[in-house]
Amino acid sequence: MSIGRVRPAVTGLPAYRPGKAAEQAEEEHGIVDAIKLASNENPYQPIPQVVEAMQDAARGVNRYADHRATELRQAIGEWIGIDERQVGVGCGSVGLLQQLFLTYIDAGDEVISPWRSFEAYPIFAQLMGSTFVETPLVGLRSDLDAVAGAVTDGTKLVLLATPNNPTGTAVTTAEIRELVSRLPSDVMVIVDEAYREFLDPVFGDPVRDLVPEFPNVVVTRTLSKAYGLAGVRTGYLVAHPDVVTEVDKTLVPFAVNAIAQAGATAAVRNVADYQPAIDLLLVERHRVVSVLTEAGWVLPDAQANFVYLDLGERTLEVCLGLERRGVVTRPFAGEGIRVTIGTPAENDKFLAALADVGGEA
Ligand SMILES: Cc1ncc(COP(=O)(O)O)c(C=O)c1O
Repeated sequence: MSIGRVRPAVTGLPAYRPGKAAEQAEEEHGIVDAIKLASNENPYQPIPQVVEAMQDAARGVNRYADHRATELRQAIGEWIGIDERQVGVGCGSVGLLQQLFLTYIDAGDEVISPWRSFEAYPIFAQLMGSTFVETPLVGLRSDLDAVAGAVTDGTKLVLLATPNNPTGTAVTTAEIRELVSRLPSDVMVIVDEAYREFLDPVFGDPVRDLVPEFPNVVVTRTLSKAYGLAGVRTGYLVAHPDVVTEVDKTLVPFAVNAIAQAGATAAVRNVADYQPAIDLLLVERHRVVSVLTEAGWVLPDAQANFVYLDLGERTLEVCLGLERRGVVTRPFAGEGIRVTIGTPAENDKFLAALADVGGEA
C-alpha cells in the first residue's frame, strides 16, 4: 500500500538488498557457525589507534560534528598528495555517488555504465528519473569502446567501477584516458575505486594520472573495505575543486558523523599499519584463485577482495548448497556468485563447501 503520493520513480524501485547475515542463514537452514562472505567486508578489525580515536569521539557526540570534516579532508589530501580543496567526503562512497547523481542528473538524462556492476548505480539513476544505459561486459570486463559508442547528447554521467563489482576485473588508467579523450568535456566520468587497495598498481592511478588533466574525471574511494570501516560509513572523492564545491552542496548535513570522522582520520594517518592485513588478503586471494583454477574453474582476473564464479543457470543452486554448508555468498541469479576473501579459515571453509557442492564451472 502506498500512503500519500509516492513518486513513481520510488514505487518502481527495487529495495537495495544488502548481503545476507550469517545469523539469518543459520536460522533458515538450522545450522551453526555460518560465515558471511557476501558483502566484501574486511574480516579484520580496524587497527587499535582507529578504535581508540572512535571511542574518544563517542564521548563528544552530544555536539554536532564538523559538517565539512575539515581535518579528515586535510588528512586525505596529505596522504594522497593532493590539495585538500580537491577532496570531498561523504557517507560512504555510495553516499558520494548519490551526491554525484543529485549534482548532475535531471529527469530524462542518460547515465552509462558497463553492466553488470554495482547495484546502487541503476537505483540512483531511476530515483532521479534518468535513463540507465547498460553496455555489455566482454569476458566479464568493462568494454570502454562500447561505453564511448553509447554516448549521446543526453549523456551526463559515465560510471566505471574498477575493479568492478561483482566481476573483480579492472581497466587501466590508459584505457580510461582514451575513453575520456573521446567524450565531450561536459560528460562526467566517475571512476569508482572502492577496491583500489587490492588492485595491482600496474593498472595505474586515476588520481595521479587523470584528475589533474581532466576536470570531468571524478575518483571515488572508500574507507569501508581495505580500512575496515564499513560500519561507520566514510568515503571520499577526488576531483577538480569546482566539482567538489558543487557536490558538497548536496551533502546531507553532518552525514559524516563524529565517530566516522575520527576513525577515518586516524586510519588515514596510519595507513601503513593496515598494510599487513591488506597483504594477507592479497595472499589469500591468490591462494583461493589458485585452488579454484587447479580444480578446473575459469575465473575472471580477480583485482578486488573477492572472486567471481561464472555459474550461469546454476547460480542459485550452488549458492544454496554453499549456504547449507554455512557459507553465505552473494548470488546474481542466472549469472554468477561473488565470494568475499575472508580469513584463511573462512576461505578454507568456502573452498571445502564448494568442493562438496560440486559446483564446477
Ligand atoms: C563498486 C562499489 N562502489 C561503492 C561501494 C560503496 O561502498 P561504501 O559506501 O561502503 O564506501 C561498493 C560497496 O560494496 C562497491 O562495491
